[in-house]
Amino acid sequence: MTSKFKISSTIHCDVLIVGAGGAGLRCAAEILEKRPGTNIVAVTKVAHPQKSHTQTAQGGMAAVDPQDPVDKPIYHMFDTWKGSDCSADQNIIRKIVESGWEQTVWMENHGMHLSRDENGRVSKRTFGGHTLNFGETSAFRCVFEADRTGKGIMDNVWGEALKGGTSFINQAIATELVFKGDNCVGAIIFRQKDGEFVAVLAKATVLATGGNGQVFKVTTNCRQNTGDGLAITIQAGLPVMDPEAIQFHPTGIVGPGILASETLRSVGGILRNKDLEPFMERYAPKMKELAPRDLVARAIETEIREGRGILNPDHDIEHVWIDLRHLSDYIHDVQIPEVSSFFRRFVNLDPKKDLCPVRPSNHYQMGGIPTNEFGEVQKSNDELIHGLFAVGECAAASFHGFNRLGTNSILELITMGKVAGEKGVASLGNERPELPKNAGDMTFSLFSKFMEQKGRDNPGQIREEMRMLMTEKVGVFRTEDGIGLAIEVLEELKERAGEATLSSKSLSMNQELIQRWELHNLLSVSTFIAHGALNRRESRGGHFREDFPERKDQFNYHTLAFMTEPGQVELGQRPIDMSIYEERQEHYEKFGMIERKY
Ligand code: FUM
Repeated sequence: MTSKFKISSTIHCDVLIVGAGGAGLRCAAEILEKRPGTNIVAVTKVAHPQKSHTQTAQGGMAAVDPQDPVDKPIYHMFDTWKGSDCSADQNIIRKIVESGWEQTVWMENHGMHLSRDENGRVSKRTFGGHTLNFGETSAFRCVFEADRTGKGIMDNVWGEALKGGTSFINQAIATELVFKGDNCVGAIIFRQKDGEFVAVLAKATVLATGGNGQVFKVTTNCRQNTGDGLAITIQAGLPVMDPEAIQFHPTGIVGPGILASETLRSVGGILRNKDLEPFMERYAPKMKELAPRDLVARAIETEIREGRGILNPDHDIEHVWIDLRHLSDYIHDVQIPEVSSFFRRFVNLDPKKDLCPVRPSNHYQMGGIPTNEFGEVQKSNDELIHGLFAVGECAAASFHGFNRLGTNSILELITMGKVAGEKGVASLGNERPELPKNAGDMTFSLFSKFMEQKGRDNPGQIREEMRMLMTEKVGVFRTEDGIGLAIEVLEELKERAGEATLSSKSLSMNQELIQRWELHNLLSVSTFIAHGALNRRESRGGHFREDFPERKDQFNYHTLAFMTEPGQVELGQRPIDMSIYEERQEHYEKFGMIERKY
């Protein structure tokens, strides 16, 4: 293909990691521990790995301490299964839960400063849906570093990756996966600083690009979370699993949507409506504020819909309150210092004295690039793409099913990063991949279009319309008509995007060009979310259909969505693994299609 663009250089390495957050760098650390000297290139979209979204994690990581006198892995497995609305894979649940404490020890041994109690023991807090004895009472199984756990994790894994000699390419995006037959041999990387396209050829490629929160208007996600890893997978004709499984965190700080950690409810914060009623009792009589997120988010939205929200003229968005005024100074100052400071900084309120305004905010994609238990990317139910791995939020193994429990994501990203690293090392051959002739064609055709378009629309405007549309029609509550309309409007937005003009045609440091590419990704991911949601005529976890409010057995499967030709979404299925149930060991009956009451 002739194009004004070209690949300016080719870098050869053993392992290419796209995305330098917690999952990607835990993978790097594992590879370097198992095989020191491995040549790893880690590419990050942001200016520094420390700006990755993992950094913002507040609450902690779920892990059953083998010395805990009351907790057991089987309880954590049950909670994860029930929390997922019976749609996570049980082989993955077992594998990840069983590795929890080992991963905690690994992190401490590599320099993480987990919070400790006055006796020097690792402190633990509870989070929604985590229980003892199959739902009897709350389980304290989440380890943390105050309310800045993500910062501790990033210091740790970034340090390990750096120490082992990982080369970082900052401010760069992966625009295309490169294949030789069914083998992935690397990716095309666009370096923002010099505007060059570089081919990075690797014996193993790991996608760790994070989530897609920017699809929605209000989100706890960082600005960079635009579903890029999913989009390049879709572009390569590979499937996305359960795109409709989106989590809305109950408590975003009203206005910016910044995460107000579930820790607030774990330490005793109470949700109140405009009459100051602690309303969660009506929705989850037993677990109340500590019910799983999908339930609490719907409860808050229901209060608001039914006229019991508060409209604050400062930001013109209805909300409920979280009441932290009764908590001790110790809790405020030692356990929740960061999130308290957010309320002071972003809404000028003092949580020790004032009620604080919160509303659900998009938080997490439970679905993603389908992988097996080693993080290897699946082409279909029984075919793998050799040399390609996906870990962290962009991937779905699936540990979370349709509703993730708080603090299970950190556990998952650390464990799957490690597992993929181990498997990656084992599969590294000696053969050095060559650059295929067609490498870069897809990227160049896309970028040429971006540069040549001459319409009047601007990508920023279209992006905002898309985010509002997805929030209103494919958000906490969904209906057939709403989703159908969203699909139609998304097609119109794609047409408009096809005309949107860039004011600067420069390749280097052109934020508008990056945003145009992100818009392309966001529109393609939104289309997948909407099609998955339309097809699933039931409610399950975070996917709530007002017209089909119950879970239905006929949908006991994972959605596999493919783009067959541009704009066409085809839906397939992957079975849910129910191996714990099928093995008929002690407590197996807890792992059937159980009722979900809290
Ligand atoms: O609420 C939180 O601190 C978030 C934790 C999580 O998403 O796991």
